[in-house]
Amino acid sequence: MRVGVLTGGGDCPGLNAVIRAVVRRGVGQHGFDFVGFRDGWRGPLEGLTMHLGIEECRGILPRGGTILGSSRTNPFAIDGGVERVRENLAAAGIDALVAIGGEDTLGVATRLAELGVAVVGVPKTIDNDLSGTDFTFGFDTAVNIATEAIDRLHTTAESHHRVLVVEVMGRHAGWIALHAGIAGGASIVLIPEQPYDIDEVCRLVERRFRSEYAPIIVVSEGATAREGDATLQEAELDAFGHVRLGGIGDRLARQIEERTGKEARSVVLGHIQRGGTPSAFDRWLATRMGLQAADAVADGDFGTMTALRGTAIVRIPLAEATGELKLVSPQEYAEAQVFFG
Ligand code: F6P
Repeated sequence: MRVGVLTGGGDCPGLNAVIRAVVRRGVGQHGFDFVGFRDGWRGPLEGLTMHLGIEECRGILPRGGTILGSSRTNPFAIDGGVERVRENLAAAGIDALVAIGGEDTLGVATRLAELGVAVVGVPKTIDNDLSGTDFTFGFDTAVNIATEAIDRLHTTAESHHRVLVVEVMGRHAGWIALHAGIAGGASIVLIPEQPYDIDEVCRLVERRFRSEYAPIIVVSEGATAREGDATLQEAELDAFGHVRLGGIGDRLARQIEERTGKEARSVVLGHIQRGGTPSAFDRWLATRMGLQAADAVADGDFGTMTALRGTAIVRIPLAEATGELKLVSPQEYAEAQVFFG
């Protein structure tokens, strides 16, 4: 059996660990041979392939990024795109495809599966906002990086009696902000699911200063003020209709300075959260997801996605994962609120 593998969307620590596990299990246990598709859905769309065997996977377990490359190409947004994908898969002799990606990449996989393409999905995103799985790999690494940054910012904020605003990734969901905020002892955590009130933020900042400590505010890039829209960096949309977010940290710092008279600075962690080596947890999760994906292909269990449920790796219908985003609930947010101010 000939199996194609692709990685799509924003990259994420652990992608290489999945690729390695799919290939090791696929070759060793099931006798598959593999074709790597380059740069997400652009690979099948334009017939961009690379050889993918055990040799190519040597030494990649701890390496960030993806040896296959990635892109946000959407074949459904291109005239004749789906037909070209099907033709190129047939030309490369592909019997089945393993697509590793987030809501967009797996959304394409879901639609292709409905059209009869033999595809198995593996969920990835540092944002952890895919339904159906307890965690996505990459998230733990991002949270660790953000937590370390918060720890470091505490000491410089204290020395200068300043407010420090840390902007983290999270377009629709505040998981990184919530987990890193709790782990790092943030004074305020602002997430997209709970529009914030700037007066309340300033009140908490002033309260924190009264106890002689400097406030650390963790804000998701997609957070919004009660009265406003998400802060946009670029109005242009990508192939999946997303605008590029960013700048909320700066805006908040300015508003806090104006309203409270306290000095405020902002730090944008940006792609640092996505780059570099995966945490041990993410290597473990990604590896187990890869093993399960290879087994799903061997079983002909297409239209499914691997998922973490408790400590078990299971298979669920792709549509279940891509139908609705997994958001932070008010109860989970309330746990962080205990420590505000
Ligand atoms: O999808 C994950 C994510 O990390 C989002 O939180 C963020 O908005 C986006 O990727 C940014 O990615 P890029 O800069 O690659 O467009």
